[in-house]
Amino acid sequence: MTQSVSRRDFLKVGGFAGVAAASVAGLGIGSIIGAPETAYAETVTVTDFVYTCPVCGKSTTDYDALVKHFKESHPKAAVPALATLVVNGNELKVQVEPHWTLRETLQRAVGLTGCAKEMCDRGGCGSCTVLVDGVPALSCTMLAVECQGKQIETSEGIAADETYRPLVEAYAKHDAAQCGYCTPGQFTVAKYIIAKYGEPTPEQIRVELAGNICRCGTYSRHVTAIQEAAEAIKGGR
Ligand code: FES
Ligand code: FES
Repeated sequence: MTQSVSRRDFLKVGGFAGVAAASVAGLGIGSIIGAPETAYAETVTVTDFVYTCPVCGKSTTDYDALVKHFKESHPKAAVPALATLVVNGNELKVQVEPHWTLRETLQRAVGLTGCAKEMCDRGGCGSCTVLVDGVPALSCTMLAVECQGKQIETSEGIAADETYRPLVEAYAKHDAAQCGYCTPGQFTVAKYIIAKYGEPTPEQIRVELAGNICRCGTYSRHVTAIQEAAEAIKGGR
C-alpha cells in the first residue's frame, strides 16, 4: 500500500529538518543574487545575509562595504568575484570569493543549508554530493567558479520535483535516514541512479552508492527505498 507522506513529514522523519527547500526569493539575499520569482514549495526565511571578511573577521551586510574594506585593509587579498550559477533550474548571480568551494557557496551565498553537508571536507564521504550536469559531484572538492554555466541540482531541488515525489516517500517509509547527515548526498545519488538505470538492481544501487558513507549504517534501506521509488516513477506499481 502506498504511504502518503508530506514533504514536511519527510524532512522531519528523515532527519532533514535543516534541509527544507529554500525559496530563494524568501531568503532576503536579493542584493547578492538575481532572485527568481519562482519558489519551491516551502520557504526558509533569512533576514540578512552577513558577509564576513575571511582575513580579519569583520562583518557587514553591505557587499560594497566589504569590497571597500578589502581594498583598503587587505590590498593583497582576493576580492569576491561575481559568478553565475544555475541551481535547481534558477540562474543566480552570486558574489563568491575565488577560493570558495561549491559546497560553501551553496550554503553561504545561495542559502541552501540542507544540501551538500560537510562531513570530511576532503572528498572522502559523499555527504556533500550534488549533481553537476546530471552527474554526482563532490561539492567540497569543486570551486564555485568552476561550475559557472553548469546545471547544479541539490537535494532540495530533487525533493521539490513532483516526478521524484515517490523517492521522498520511499525514503520516509523505509527510514532510509537516521541522523540524516549523509542523507542529502545519498538522496542526490539516488536520483542519479533512477535516471540512469530506470529500474536498478540492488547491485547497481550498491555500486553507485559505494562512495557515500553512512555512520548510522542505513545502507540496506537505501536499496529498498530506491528500488521502490524507481518502480513507482516508471509507473510500474
Ligand atoms: S564532505 Fe565532501 S566528500 Fe566528505
Ligand atoms: S543517517 Fe546518520 S550518517 Fe547516515
